[in-house]
Amino acid sequence: LRTQVAIIGAGPAGMFLAHLLHAAGVAVVVIEQRTRSYVENRVRAGVLEQITADLMGRLGLDRRLRAEGLVHEGINLALDGDIFRIDLAAATGGSTVTVYGQQEVMKDLFDAADARGISIVWNAEGVALHDLESERRPVVTWTLGGVAQRLECSFVAGCDGYHGVSRSAIPADVLRTYERVYPFGWLGILADVPPAGHELIYANHAHGFALASMRSPTRSRYYIQCTLDEKPEDWPDERFWDELCLRLGPQGGAAVTRGPSFEKSIAPLRSFVAEPMRWGRLFLAGDAAHIVPPTGAKGLNLAVADVIVLADALTVFFTSGSTAGIDAYSARALARVWKAERFSWWYTSVTHRFPDMDGFSRRLQMAELDYIRTSPAAQRSLAENYVGLPLVR
Ligand code: FAD
Ligand code: DHB
Repeated sequence: LRTQVAIIGAGPAGMFLAHLLHAAGVAVVVIEQRTRSYVENRVRAGVLEQITADLMGRLGLDRRLRAEGLVHEGINLALDGDIFRIDLAAATGGSTVTVYGQQEVMKDLFDAADARGISIVWNAEGVALHDLESERRPVVTWTLGGVAQRLECSFVAGCDGYHGVSRSAIPADVLRTYERVYPFGWLGILADVPPAGHELIYANHAHGFALASMRSPTRSRYYIQCTLDEKPEDWPDERFWDELCLRLGPQGGAAVTRGPSFEKSIAPLRSFVAEPMRWGRLFLAGDAAHIVPPTGAKGLNLAVADVIVLADALTVFFTSGSTAGIDAYSARALARVWKAERFSWWYTSVTHRFPDMDGFSRRLQMAELDYIRTSPAAQRSLAENYVGLPLVR
């Protein structure tokens, strides 16, 4: 087998890159270790930035997004139960976000890949990368049902997430990593009940953070901050609803419709960046290169921003032979990645309860949130980051 770009991983980064390159006439093969239904059924992100919604439009993947996506012009913040709204559209000159689950995005990407003849290898075991920095062309190997497979290519795009193999192909003396691990996690549930309101509520409460989100007018997504030693079984539905309503406060809590949850899981929070995002003929994109805590809803959108820049760079290379774009990829992507890392870290810091927090730190948090409530400048800064910073081209 031969192709121009071998894409490792069929998550959002890999599949958006595959569609972008295919549309530009560049040949790709996507190699994924799981099954389609596994990837499609992972419950993850829910909020799309304008660049992500626009990209789905540009790729002709937005039929369901336009029909079912919920466009939000604002978000709410709650401080000890007092709720105030930030008008994202007014603060940014008209930008919005769209609530549309990652699972739906994946479904649309896979359906269109089938229709357009983009080849995806599912169930690839033992994926390995070879000759990434030699005169020879890179080679990807794997086994499929016990049979050895081999793909020759010009470039490899490592879109295989935080636990993938691509990042570790970069030699230890080249790779630099930067990390923060937070002393708490998010316990999330899905329930088929109407959401608490038509926009999200991010709540800072003395007991910890809570988030009211949604997937549709009939499906709610809620999160509460929990400790890292807790298990989903420690939180039967009634206990979850009681704690959620307490943290959202009287007004937010009263708007919550309770019902049986059908998904309940805990995710740890982490900030992580690997540099550089290119080594030889290997490029990293998405979670393979960076992780943000979920507070700013940046993970999926950051993967999209990376692959827009990478697809441009590779397309220029294959059409003109110029390496300017691929040489600049790592620096361009990282310039935006670090700003999203900063925002996600900051938003986490002002909304969560830290175990070592004393009265002074708590009052600084309260002052910061009250500053946001009363200052148009502070609201503008939050809003422009939340809807997504411009791409670095
Ligand atoms: P991934 O989605 O991780 O995709 C990588 C793909 O590569 C996977 O399909 C994987 O199976 C495949 N793969 C891995 N190793 C190999 C290999 N060796 N060979 C071949 N294929 C391989 N973001 C938000 O904005 N909001 C949220 O609420 C949110 N919740 C999250 C909850 C969880 C539990 C997790 C893990 C992430 C969450 N995120 C959230 C982050 C967001 O989902 C990710 O940032 C996004 O999926 C990144 O896309 P990606 O394509 O880079 O990586
Ligand atoms: C969702 C997740 C987030 O991390 C966030 O900031 C907003 C919404 C969600 O899953 O709906």
